[in-house]
Amino acid sequence: MKNRFLAFLLVHVSVFIILARPTFGQSQQPAKPFDLIQWNGGKFVYGVDYYPEHWEESQWEKDATMMQAAGINFVRLAEFAWVKMEPAEGKFEFAWLDRALKVLNAHGIKAILGTPTASPPAWLYAKYPDIAAMDENGVRYRYGSRRNYCIHNPNFIAATERIVSAMADHFKNHTGVIGWQIDNELGDPECFDAATRAAFQKWCRTKYKTLDALNKAWGTIFWGHTYLAWSEVPLPWNTLGKAYNPSLALDFKRFQSDTTHEYLKVHTTILRRIAPRQPITHNAMGMYDNVDYSDLHRSVDFVAWDNYPMFGENYADYFGPAMAHDLMRGSKNNQNFMVMEQQGGLPGWDIFWGRQAAPGLYRAWAFQAVAHGADGICYFRWRTSRWGTEQYWQGILDQDSYPNARYQTAAQTGKELGQLTELLHGSKVVSSVAILVSPDSRWAFKIQPLVKEFNYNRQMHLYYDAFRRAGVSVDVVFPQGDFSTYKVIVAPSLFVVDKPLVEKLTEFVKKGGTLVLNYRAGVKDEHNVVTDQTLPGPLAELAGIAIHDFDPQTNQEQEITGADGSRYAVRAWFDILDPTTAQTLASYNKGYYAGKAAITRNRVGDGSVWYVGTESASTELYSRMAAYIGEQAGVSKGPSLPEGVEFATREKAGKKIFFLINYTEKAQSVPLERVYQNALTGSAEPEEVSIPAFDVKVLTSP
Ligand code: GLA
Ligand code: GLA
Repeated sequence: MKNRFLAFLLVHVSVFIILARPTFGQSQQPAKPFDLIQWNGGKFVYGVDYYPEHWEESQWEKDATMMQAAGINFVRLAEFAWVKMEPAEGKFEFAWLDRALKVLNAHGIKAILGTPTASPPAWLYAKYPDIAAMDENGVRYRYGSRRNYCIHNPNFIAATERIVSAMADHFKNHTGVIGWQIDNELGDPECFDAATRAAFQKWCRTKYKTLDALNKAWGTIFWGHTYLAWSEVPLPWNTLGKAYNPSLALDFKRFQSDTTHEYLKVHTTILRRIAPRQPITHNAMGMYDNVDYSDLHRSVDFVAWDNYPMFGENYADYFGPAMAHDLMRGSKNNQNFMVMEQQGGLPGWDIFWGRQAAPGLYRAWAFQAVAHGADGICYFRWRTSRWGTEQYWQGILDQDSYPNARYQTAAQTGKELGQLTELLHGSKVVSSVAILVSPDSRWAFKIQPLVKEFNYNRQMHLYYDAFRRAGVSVDVVFPQGDFSTYKVIVAPSLFVVDKPLVEKLTEFVKKGGTLVLNYRAGVKDEHNVVTDQTLPGPLAELAGIAIHDFDPQTNQEQEITGADGSRYAVRAWFDILDPTTAQTLASYNKGYYAGKAAITRNRVGDGSVWYVGTESASTELYSRMAAYIGEQAGVSKGPSLPEGVEFATREKAGKKIFFLINYTEKAQSVPLERVYQNALTGSAEPEEVSIPAFDVKVLTSP
């Protein structure tokens, strides 16, 4: 009914009420979530990534003293020190690390050790040159960087087993070593050598059993690519014109993710056998998508990740790290996590990237992590390197060790997190809205990007940001996750779907959930093959629409209009919708399909399904949809927020902890409907809470 859309468009997003009662989500927690604070002897995990091997031993005591003064109780050590621990094959030297640990432990600082496999020693490459990764042209990378290895090379696996076993043996009973980090940022490189090809062929054989089944699933009859022997199955390497079978390419992505997990398990199997009392993590990379983190994280005790808010896609935008935190949390049943590398200074390699952040922002980002469920913050790195590739990648201290403004900020943050530990301990983020991230769809879009304007992460952000701007908590859920605790699930561009996912989403909607789909949903089956059903394929009935035509963005302008006449410029993709049982909420204005539906909503059982056939360039459309959908679904909203101020909530036993974070360089205020207590000062905040530039307020109800 058009008047419903009119109502939705007329909703003026202004008055938000904070509901003080707990709502949903409790059942999401696995039976025994890992407790980072308990693990760290009751202290909030607060640390730095430290490389004692980079500095004279005489420096260690000074460093540990300065760390302790800043409230630091944790370090990550050794993850690039393979050559120092195994200077020749089978010859191990840990005495230097014992001495470093002794100094740090004496200052109340415990350590996690990295297995050092991300940077194998030069002698290993000299002896086994084929451990180096091979690029898609069949050329091995030369020695000199890091992460240059093939996880299918037997010599590399043997070397991994040897160093991990030796470390585990030496440190298994060390009371100052409280855990392990596996490797460093697993997932790359994709290797295209003969060993990898053989491993991929084996993986395919396990999956498809017969060549006939593989040929059928991948549609290899196209261009007559049918394989008659397993040994003929290629890799998605550099073919003429870069044309390769998208089904093969998707399976190769899965293979890369699966076997990265297998490689992680080479480490965890040894550690769990030899050093079972020391928990295990890995430093993941947030939005990085070469690995399905929901799978990888089944083999770690808790999630840790590397958060650089002013780097890459996240540059200077608080929604970037916010969603990455939520995705990381979602990759292990929303269990609290830690940041293993929290940006501690300006990033750069051969040049400085980006601009320097105000010192206060380093504290704001730490609190943002906490607000999103982190129970540990570890800054990368203690002191900027004098040597090597990362001379421009700042740590907390510069090379001169002067206690600069970043150090002072880190010290303030350390003190405050110490103060808040009891309050935070046992609290978690609880959300009734979730964004569904589909690893298969992300990979499929990487293989065939649709149109040049398309970006899967941006699709997630358009909806995620809209809810977050309204102060609503959002989880990121994976296809294997528990949908039952949510009122709203947004599944951006759900390109690749299999039957179990369609069934799960149908069940969610029938039980009263609101599902939001947008363009390119239901196009491909699990083999990255286009469906022969009318689009959106297996989701068509649920959405109550048929799509018989679509128009990829070809530089033309398009616009949609809602029933009240509001217009929105749209771009990138235009699905032309024919409602079967759905209502039309907005229609296209231009071209040969002017007047055809662009946004629809279908009622199914107790729930409803939205289909948004296009993308708007402005945030306005998304804010209004989020407000309307949230209100209809009974989602608790946050306060009215000025731009650049984030509101986030943790909960414990019915009590809420609110975080107000101001990322801007001017003071801002947020109207709450009552007086809350400032958890850091202990005093009451006025109803109109003022947050100074780059500052944070942590509030609780009295
Ligand atoms: C050429 C080729 C066809 C087909 C089309 C579209 O015309 O002859 O086989 O590949 O391009 O790519
Ligand atoms: C990554 C790595 C670190 C360091 C930083 C900065 O996060 O894990 O070792 O290289 O980037 O480049």
